[in-house]
Amino acid sequence: MDTGTLALDGQAAFVTGGGGGIGRAIAICLAAHGADVAVIDVIPERGEEVAGQVRALGRRALAIPGNVMETATVRDAVEAAAKEFGRLDILVNNAGGVTRRKFTDLVEKNWQRHIDLNLTSNLAATAQAIPHMIAGGRGGSIINVTSIEASRAAPGYAVYAACKAGINNLTRTLAVELSDHGIRVNAIAPDFTRTPGTTGVFTGPADSASLPAMSTQQADVIRRRIPLTRPGIDAECGHLAVFLASAMASYITGTIIPIDGGTWGSGGWIRDKAGAWVLPPDA
Ligand SMILES: NC(=O)c1ccc[n+]([C@@H]2O[C@H](COP(=O)([O-])OP(=O)(O)OC[C@H]3O[C@@H](n4cnc5c(N)ncnc54)[C@H](O)[C@@H]3O)[C@@H](O)[C@H]2O)c1
Repeated sequence: MDTGTLALDGQAAFVTGGGGGIGRAIAICLAAHGADVAVIDVIPERGEEVAGQVRALGRRALAIPGNVMETATVRDAVEAAAKEFGRLDILVNNAGGVTRRKFTDLVEKNWQRHIDLNLTSNLAATAQAIPHMIAGGRGGSIINVTSIEASRAAPGYAVYAACKAGINNLTRTLAVELSDHGIRVNAIAPDFTRTPGTTGVFTGPADSASLPAMSTQQADVIRRRIPLTRPGIDAECGHLAVFLASAMASYITGTIIPIDGGTWGSGGWIRDKAGAWVLPPDA
């Protein structure tokens, strides 16, 4: 019996927004399991830091400074990665972000920025990566970082949520379109995960170990709302990405996997101050 393997030896990966947060963790975890890794990040020192971590794991690395909101930049970066490594097996569309504002306070420029960052960058990287995967003849794994906000109402995040919902159905559709080539397409859907973005660190290298601590009040809210009582850790997304990229997930395609400590499943139930499960307004 084949007992499976998480090994990614000899494979080449490209991670958008791979210099910080979830993308950084995914890049390092892929390298730890044997992949060579290229990252693109708009903060150059972040990409360089991750490339250093990948090299320290004995893998080849490429850090590409660039803004994924420019489609030509993303496409060129994918090309550079495929050229550097001579192949491309794994694409992680991770770059994304949001500014919280009511939809009625947004104007076209704001919509466009959200769409460019969260959706169009994904389309550009994916379109550029697919021909390399097909040419390699070994299949491939595309992993989209979506959000739990793609699957529920997200007040204050309307355009972001719409983009992430678009990514969910892009995931399902491309899984079917690319199945003839053995290219699997899946998405991971985090809820609250502590990263530079969610803790307000927008400059400099982004080692998650050095993020500011949570306040007591924030920790209490999280304990009550998240069944597993804590925020997500970026490395946990890395672990899931390794699984999806590996032969362990050889029969998995077209799925959206929540990685959320149970919030999607809990469907609005939260703990009251004494720890009993209640529905608002009893909270
Ligand atoms: N952290 C969460 O709680 C959470 C929850 C749900 C979904 N997500 C999704 O996970 C992904 C990563 O989130 P995160 O919290 O790790 O983000 P983050 O802001 O902590 O890190 C994002 C990284 O991408 C880089 N980046 C940002 N904009 C870029 C651009 N235009 N071009 C190139 N690089 C760029 C940043 O410099 C940074 O290194 C996003 O798609 C986000 O929507 C995160």
